[in-house]
Amino acid sequence: AYQIEGGWNEDGKGESNWDHFTHYHKNKIKTHENGDVACDFYHRYESDIELMHKMHIPASRFSIGWSRVLPQGIGQINQKGIDFYNKVIDKSLKEGVTPWVTCYHWDIPQALEAKGGWTNRDVIKWFEEFVEVCALKFGDRVKNWMVFNEPMSFTLAGYMLGIHAPGGAISFDKFYASTHHVVMSHGAGGRIIREHVKNANVGTTFSCIPIDGWKDKPANLEAAKRVDVMANRLFIEPVLGMGYPLHDLPALKHIEKYIHAGDEEKMKFDFDFIGLQNYTRWVVKNLGLVPMVHAINIKPSKMGHDLTEMGWEVYPEGMYRIIKQFAAYPGVKKIYLTENGVAFKDELVNGEINDVKRIQYLKDYLQQVLKAKRGGINIGGYFIWSFLDNFEWAEGYRPKLGIVAVDYKTQQRTIKASGKWFSDFLKG
Ligand code: GAL
Repeated sequence: AYQIEGGWNEDGKGESNWDHFTHYHKNKIKTHENGDVACDFYHRYESDIELMHKMHIPASRFSIGWSRVLPQGIGQINQKGIDFYNKVIDKSLKEGVTPWVTCYHWDIPQALEAKGGWTNRDVIKWFEEFVEVCALKFGDRVKNWMVFNEPMSFTLAGYMLGIHAPGGAISFDKFYASTHHVVMSHGAGGRIIREHVKNANVGTTFSCIPIDGWKDKPANLEAAKRVDVMANRLFIEPVLGMGYPLHDLPALKHIEKYIHAGDEEKMKFDFDFIGLQNYTRWVVKNLGLVPMVHAINIKPSKMGHDLTEMGWEVYPEGMYRIIKQFAAYPGVKKIYLTENGVAFKDELVNGEINDVKRIQYLKDYLQQVLKAKRGGINIGGYFIWSFLDNFEWAEGYRPKLGIVAVDYKTQQRTIKASGKWFSDFLKG
């Protein structure tokens, strides 16, 4: 929602934490930009969905802006916000593009953020109310649901590091509190969708990243295991009913002060599928000075790797490794790759963007998905991040991840060579 919609204060929409963050903490966004207009999807959804159809894209994943449907987070429903998503859903179905809805992609209403947002235990109730509105209003037509987008990203970047909304000083306490409430909300949200949506396919998505130890040195391999707990295991294991991986990362014991009697049972939810989102890998080195994980990432540039515009290493094998790692959990029944894609510098020459590097990246990563599927892993599908170039959070609009370019001055869309390639690929 926040990355593409724009229309930030239109038709009764309330302020979200990202509206607030980008307006009042401009310096935290590298380019000082915001999502006020973004790709203007709020006004252009019809032609964008028609373009998806034209490109043979069979499914589109998008999120519901919480403050668009519930401006204050709870209480009064904004009918015009509901109307907007109804129009997007109906248009998608009409064009043969199946809607895959994520309830929460990082934009909590500012009215709730002001009360502590995800650090406040009441958020579980607030979130239940929001998910119930989504399920009741859209569940007659939307069957594929994801409760969260990448819980690790917004708890870590938002509440611990303060580089994403809501910002603020570094805080471990806020991270532990928000982590537990988000874990609890996975179960809470999943149960509500299951209760209200007939034949729902309920999932949730996780960021995931293979972690290696620098030069395979024993201390670095141990460091890699600790980072793996943070990056890959912390959210999924309690949701699968395995509890928090405290044993393998003792610093996490601080989370215990937020756990109430009976919580462990409620954290569990039997998801129909898990969405995995992978872009790169990390190589880490043991470093006692670093709190919690006692490790640091080696900069990919130091290792002489080909880098993306996000500064990430291109590492297709990581896709296969991470699928294997998550598929090994007995509770994971089915996997969708709900995000994968890349930012490279795009050049518009004579009206065309010949992004050959992106095509190669997508082919190489898809090859690894295919390898996992052929190896017997139950993989349901793959979504590119992203259809359109969009607002890339603290990076602003500079990194372009779309297979369709957006000229933000004119809002003109240009299908990149990768978009044409993907369209051919989808055609079979
Ligand atoms: C994910 C996130 C997306 C997008 C993408 C590319 O972490 O869910 O919103 O920003 O990364 O960086």
